[in-house]
Amino acid sequence: MVQGQLLEIFASKSAKEINSKRHLIDVDNFSPDEIKTITQTAKLCLQWMDGKHAPMTMFAANIVGNLFFENSTRTRSSFELAATNLGARVLNLDIDKSSVAKGETLEDTAFTLISMGVNALVIRHSQDKIQSDLSRILPAEVSVLNAGDGVTAHPTQALLDFFTMSQIAGDLTDKKIVIVGDIKHSRVARSNILLLKKMGAKVEACGPTKLMPGADELNKMGVTVQEDLNAAIADADFIMALRIQKERLQSDMQLSFEDFQKKYQINHVRLEQSKSKAKILHPGPVNRGVELTDELADDAKLSLIRTQVRNGVAVRMAMMALLFSRRPC
Ligand code: CP
Repeated sequence: MVQGQLLEIFASKSAKEINSKRHLIDVDNFSPDEIKTITQTAKLCLQWMDGKHAPMTMFAANIVGNLFFENSTRTRSSFELAATNLGARVLNLDIDKSSVAKGETLEDTAFTLISMGVNALVIRHSQDKIQSDLSRILPAEVSVLNAGDGVTAHPTQALLDFFTMSQIAGDLTDKKIVIVGDIKHSRVARSNILLLKKMGAKVEACGPTKLMPGADELNKMGVTVQEDLNAAIADADFIMALRIQKERLQSDMQLSFEDFQKKYQINHVRLEQSKSKAKILHPGPVNRGVELTDELADDAKLSLIRTQVRNGVAVRMAMMALLFSRRPC
């Protein structure tokens, strides 16, 4: 039944538009209608995951290559599960044991796997925009899905965050989302800001100046900045806490984690002080006790973290299904 409903979605103008783009590089490639189609498809995929549905067969011709040049638990595992749920095959390249360690380029690695039959490359890389550059030189039947590049984009994270918030609030027009913490080094923040603004939400950034992008970039993003966390979250619908990205901080930045914790940690006391009714998101992995307390991260009434993770599988199924939809089985 789910496969039949998927076929109905694939026949829509917006699904055909998504399919014709071939790649998922960042969320700015998609219109609001296309984002809604991705969400609608993710809902069906979630139904499939929740029910005892027959295995999907219509994507069986696809072979997905997972190429993770940076560590990952959630994104890599959920792309693998999502592809398997669709009935596709998955090849997980162990980068450290691959010929990348002998100096092979990403282009040569990609073409090597494509020659073996891989037709979708899920890539996480520390270099900004590398997936976009690669997508321009690949054969027409191959899709690139960006699983995170440098500090630029993490489109499936933004899509799953949007999906999770929409499950609770419906339309996010005029809803207020506060993004707290290390926005400067966060591809999650950049993709989320693009997507949330596109869908009509109000986005406020909150954190120390050292962890904020420059004024020009903030203006371009169209987000307001509030340094006082209590003021930012008082009327927020959602608070998205971000991980301090220790691996991307410059050694001369001299950020005091103790000071950050005092001013920007989200915890129950802070929510009560500001009378905030907001639900909490975090893309993970959480630095427990820094950006979120253990108690709040594990508070089933307020924390959406585990829902985000589950929704990540559905959203990645939806994205691959839409990109694979017009390929012969
Ligand atoms: N949110 C996220 O990208 O987590 P991983 O690094 O575990 O994939």
